[in-house]
Amino acid sequence: MKLGLFIRPCGHHIASWRHPRAQADAGVNFQHFVEMAQLAERGLFDMLFSADSLTVWTGGEQGIDLVHYVAWIEPWTLLSALAAHTKRIGLVCTASTSFEQPFSVARKFASLDLISGGRVGWNVVTSGNETEALNFSDTPHLPKVERYKRGREFVDVVRALWDSWDGDAFLRDKAKGVFSDRSKMHVLNHHGDYFDVQGPLNVARSPQGQPVIVQAGASDDGRQLAAETAEVVFTAHHVVETARIFYADVKRRMVEAGRDPDSLKILPGLSVYVAPTREEAQAKLQELQDLLHPELAVSLLSRRIGHDLSAYALDEPLPDLPENVVISSRSDMIIGWSKEGSPTLRELALRFASSRGHFTLVGTPQEVVDEMQHWFETGACDGFNILPPFYLGGLEDFVNMVTPELQKRGLFRTAYEGTTLRDILGLPTPVSRYASKDEA
Ligand SMILES: Cc1cc2nc3c(=O)[nH]c(=O)nc-3n(C[C@H](O)[C@H](O)[C@H](O)COP(=O)(O)O)c2cc1C
Repeated sequence: MKLGLFIRPCGHHIASWRHPRAQADAGVNFQHFVEMAQLAERGLFDMLFSADSLTVWTGGEQGIDLVHYVAWIEPWTLLSALAAHTKRIGLVCTASTSFEQPFSVARKFASLDLISGGRVGWNVVTSGNETEALNFSDTPHLPKVERYKRGREFVDVVRALWDSWDGDAFLRDKAKGVFSDRSKMHVLNHHGDYFDVQGPLNVARSPQGQPVIVQAGASDDGRQLAAETAEVVFTAHHVVETARIFYADVKRRMVEAGRDPDSLKILPGLSVYVAPTREEAQAKLQELQDLLHPELAVSLLSRRIGHDLSAYALDEPLPDLPENVVISSRSDMIIGWSKEGSPTLRELALRFASSRGHFTLVGTPQEVVDEMQHWFETGACDGFNILPPFYLGGLEDFVNMVTPELQKRGLFRTAYEGTTLRDILGLPTPVSRYASKDEA
């Protein structure tokens, strides 16, 4: 089973920063992230994953507190620094194909792969929030279909740039005075619909050959991009049935695209409240739910659905919403919840706020692992992307109670399998597109 750790300064519960044991200044506290990363490495997590957005979300017009993760250390910088404080864990960082340039992204990820000894992955996002474009001069917020087309070309260019140099291009032969072999440098000369990039990249081939490609889009276009290019997929499902359908669909698309389905690991998000007894675990969830402003929860839900829910009655079931308000695959899931037993808007909003729509487990270590094992062994996932409700306590609970139970059942590693992220994820090392057929 593969496990990612989804970083977020104070935690994934929206009220996490108010928890008595939470580090409320986590977003500006580098030492906190070092402790988080080292604890995750002690727990043998495959990778740290940092999401990113290029805007500040103000939480609507109600004048309530902003969410705690609107302003924190920029993730790229953060993971570069964390590379020096960790040895084995993977480092996955987000970069947008709508607002970055392929050359800069290829250069930064190849460099971080060198700095970390081959532990890097790139979470490819197309940036769905239209307010992000407001920070990027004349770059428009493109319609979704076009964002994905640009994203596809972007990924292709980045990967091609990573092949700019053969692994043995730099001879550094002091005696002969030969630094590099020019025949092992490859000029890209790319001219496409969105990008013109000459290349080559001014960074040598990195330890993994190519950093790992990660993605999290779940719409039709998102799945197709993942099936054609991704090696890890993060996703959100709150029941095993939809996770299985998603898993089978992405793996089927991979086969159609001529790829080996094992060369991509699908990891749904999982938020865990664990304790020696179920009652104590339930109390841990309730403690955080009691700290939540319902208005903030409604605001968060409104943003996810793309429709302002603040005028709707809090303690009545959510009426049918206009079809055109649904902005992404995850909002379909929330609309699905609203049809299960007619929950009130307050109940829906609190449920969403506790883990932002990801699968949540509350129970003893045995109960939590029973369910994880069920998902893993019935074709719903290759592991999970863990979202601790609050840091560091929620992560400590996972490492101290869930990890040993997973290991006891032979579901999880007891030591890292290798030195690169590809080694520990069990992914093949890509062969350069310029390699001769014999090498390939
Ligand atoms: C676990 C997870 C992490 C994500 N991280 C980011 C992120 O860091 N930045 C971002 O802009 N979008 C992020 N997304 C959003 C997706 O990349 C995608 O844009 C979104 O799911 C909407 O596209 P879709 O309709 O294809 O699913 C994330 C989604 C999931 C499920």
